[in-house]
Amino acid sequence: MTMRFKLTIPLPFLSLATAALAALIVVGCSNKGLTTKRSAQNGLGDLPKAEGGGAPSLEIGSDSVFYPNNMPSALKGRQVYNANCALCHGTYLTAQEHLDLSKEANLPADQQVVWKGLEKEGRMPEIKPLNGPDFNDRDWRFQRTPGQLFQLIAYGSMPEMLGVANPKLIKHPGPVLGPDKHPLKDANGKVQYKPGLGWMDAIQIQRGGLEFISGDAVPVWDSIFYVWSRAITVKSVSNFSDVWKIYGENCSVCHGDIAKGNGPISKQLNPLPFNFQNRKALAETTDAFLFWRISEGGQFRRIPQPIKDTMSSQALSLYVHQWSAMPAWRGLLTEEQRWMLVDGVRSKTYEHE
Ligand code: HEC
Ligand code: HEC
Repeated sequence: MTMRFKLTIPLPFLSLATAALAALIVVGCSNKGLTTKRSAQNGLGDLPKAEGGGAPSLEIGSDSVFYPNNMPSALKGRQVYNANCALCHGTYLTAQEHLDLSKEANLPADQQVVWKGLEKEGRMPEIKPLNGPDFNDRDWRFQRTPGQLFQLIAYGSMPEMLGVANPKLIKHPGPVLGPDKHPLKDANGKVQYKPGLGWMDAIQIQRGGLEFISGDAVPVWDSIFYVWSRAITVKSVSNFSDVWKIYGENCSVCHGDIAKGNGPISKQLNPLPFNFQNRKALAETTDAFLFWRISEGGQFRRIPQPIKDTMSSQALSLYVHQWSAMPAWRGLLTEEQRWMLVDGVRSKTYEHE
């Protein structure tokens, strides 16, 4: 993956940006309206220790959400998902028991032939609805943060929408644990589930051919990023190289080659360009916000209410600067390209498949 410090912003725009920049440098960090405080740029801070018992506060950003030391992995998450979640959400994550062929062009070729054959003969199995959202649906992901989903799965519940007063509580089923701390099974060997129970102490993983329960946050994060990574614009690894090309041409001058917020002109900016390796910040940020921010840039009077509703108050106060040198890319990059960039900068906080 090569990235260049090449700026291909159209000239009129560039001079505009320079003017804005100069204004910012003169005024320094003008603090109008929203707070400009930001927790340390350099990443995750201390990892809070897990404490036994009880679901922690539902407010996203409270330190009870454990951010893993290592990058969560969607690939490992696939195994975790298949062992724990596919039973209810389906192998293809579509919330349908069987595959919707029109949606899943990415099935292995031999399987596609079988399914098409069945369809022709009118023997296609009935498609039964399962549970939860279609994880391939971008609209679903638009309103959620990874941190919020982590809370739902790890501890069993989360508010339906972050910014809304008195949001409805979504409850998620988790396994009932027996006295030996293992999932309780009925007479037929079926695991018992109950809404509102978390998976933190129950999620099963495979290691060295053995199944066991680790009781830590990592497999939960892995499974979250697996389902999360299904609803992206960029469908394959090769397309990510297109993302980094767009990024290299437009963003790296400020945000840096590896998106740490340390590009060649970053030092002259206040606030500094965002560090996309800040796992905590990204775990608390919705796609709705990132897309809006890339489109509209860093000088705005107020955040539109629909975007605001998807944000926790903590994320709003910690990660949003109202006056920054962040340019608006609407009109310069296509909608598709801006979505690709959302996926790109997101992928700095987890390993995609
Ligand atoms: C016993 C069935 C069952 C199992 C097992 C299960 N889920 Fe779910 N899941 C549901 C149901 C039901 C919903 C819908 C909840 C609602 O909308 O009220 C759901 C919703 C979700 C949502 C979306 C919440 C939202 O609205 O944004 C996520 C994410 C999710 N599940 C992830 C997982 C993961 C990860 C696992 C495995 C660790 C898992 N689920 C295992 C039944 C299950
Ligand atoms: C002229 C420098 C500059 C360029 C070029 C630039 N940015 Fe930014 N960007 C910033 C600054 C400064 C911020 C403000 C950081 C803050 O609010 O703390 C920012 C913030 C952001 C944010 C908000 C992150 C958050 O969670 O608050 C996103 C997303 C973003 N930039 C994406 C991009 C993308 C994608 C590109 C390329 C298409 C780009 N930026 C190009 C300077 C720049």
